[in-house]
Amino acid sequence: MKLYIDPRRVLCNRDEKLYGQFLEHFDRQIYGGVFMPGHPMSDEDGFRRDVLDALRDIHTPIIRWPGGCFVSAYHWKNGVGPNRTPSYDKAWRVEDNNTFGTDEFVLLCRKLGCEPYICTNAGTGSPEEMSDWVEYCNLPREGQYARLRISGGHEQPFGVKYWSIGNESYLGGEMGCKTHDEWGGFVREAAKMMRRVDPGIELSAAAVADVDWNTRLLSQAGSYLKWISIHGYWDDLWQNNNLSTYEQCMALTSGLDRDVRKVRGMLTAFGLEKKIRIAFDEWNLRSWHHPNVNAAPLGSEEFIRARGNADLNATYTMADAVFTGCFFNMLLRNADIVGMANYAPAVNTRGVIYVHDKGIVRRTTYHVFWMYTHLMGNQIIDSWMPDNIVEVKSTKHGEERRVEMLDALATRCSESGKLAISLVNKDADNKQTIDIELPLGYELETMTSLRGDSPNDYNDVDHENVVPEDLTENVQKENRRLRVSVPPHSVNILVLQR
Ligand code: AHR
Repeated sequence: MKLYIDPRRVLCNRDEKLYGQFLEHFDRQIYGGVFMPGHPMSDEDGFRRDVLDALRDIHTPIIRWPGGCFVSAYHWKNGVGPNRTPSYDKAWRVEDNNTFGTDEFVLLCRKLGCEPYICTNAGTGSPEEMSDWVEYCNLPREGQYARLRISGGHEQPFGVKYWSIGNESYLGGEMGCKTHDEWGGFVREAAKMMRRVDPGIELSAAAVADVDWNTRLLSQAGSYLKWISIHGYWDDLWQNNNLSTYEQCMALTSGLDRDVRKVRGMLTAFGLEKKIRIAFDEWNLRSWHHPNVNAAPLGSEEFIRARGNADLNATYTMADAVFTGCFFNMLLRNADIVGMANYAPAVNTRGVIYVHDKGIVRRTTYHVFWMYTHLMGNQIIDSWMPDNIVEVKSTKHGEERRVEMLDALATRCSESGKLAISLVNKDADNKQTIDIELPLGYELETMTSLRGDSPNDYNDVDHENVVPEDLTENVQKENRRLRVSVPPHSVNILVLQR
């Protein structure tokens, strides 16, 4: 196969927020994950040091919190101040002790050097409650909520810039969900109040790739928004944890940009494509597992225990890593309109990091984050592959899809001038050979690869063998041509220096 690249044609710049994370009050993401006061591995504020280090090492730029479905009945005032009383979490039907609230979230982000992104309660909450939250976080001293923050020891405002209105308010199962007709007006009123407290905030609103939903939203509230939020989970596991096989996951990499294209089209139709960007603010190959969460009888522990299946490290394989590489390439290709993305979630459940009593496991997906945040450039440059190999793969539901077996994308770093080319080989069994003409003035620097002994390889406690490795030896130079050999089921980044 041949890959052509033209470093003179910069297509767009990417926003570093594409590599963001998400944390929800769900299972062991916060309590028993990032926040474990009193644990020997936690710092003086209760945060697991090893988790903080790992999140820093993938240059986490932004974290979305507190939900997710959780937020649709979350009242932020229960999670601030000296007297925190537990509340019943009606989304996941467990008790939340409220010891992790807004102050702790902002502190977490400060420790990581990343932006906090707060998703508000558009279910049982009101525009007023949302604007009180903005007051608590951002007003210097005016008003009872700013003073409440100050009395809690936070003299300086938190300056939270990114906010969203609602989570998946279009879904019937979401508490306080809205109809098409209700949503635009609700967002407009919430946005109005929030921006009267702080006109500097950047607002998003829950959306979906649906013409009716977005027509109402954009016509009634478009002038208040900087972002529009969409979500994607491809392997449906909510009720049954029957994970797609490697090959079935590859079928799911076909058409990854479908919702982005649809929403881009709608923004363009409204003339808003230069003003509003897409926040893909929840995404993961695998949807989370919480069977019968709304139907199990009181007293039944089974539906809570079942969530633990989402924590099994053996289920995060090279399929997840290869999918993640393809998803990043899709985001980068669309970086003119997609400005933020949040992996769902960061920690435990289906996260990039698994936390246990004695340490953490960096799952295969973690290392893809590491490779993209450390090696890929910030400018997307033109690249094309005229002779990609296409195979037909079936999803677990039997739907046949045409899949390009190599996903390639080229970037340039505006500071160093280096080029970085992502080569994701989806083929389970075969290596691929790619010929690349070295652009004038460039030479090979390195090739870093994430492979694994098999498509089903994974990392676990005391067993972290899927890690990035130097495979520069797989690149042969003949005159000005590079012949690059990438292993089966692998994510590779080739760096060219000047
Ligand atoms: O399964 C977790 C849920 O997935 C999140 O809370 C929600 O936003 C998404 O549908």
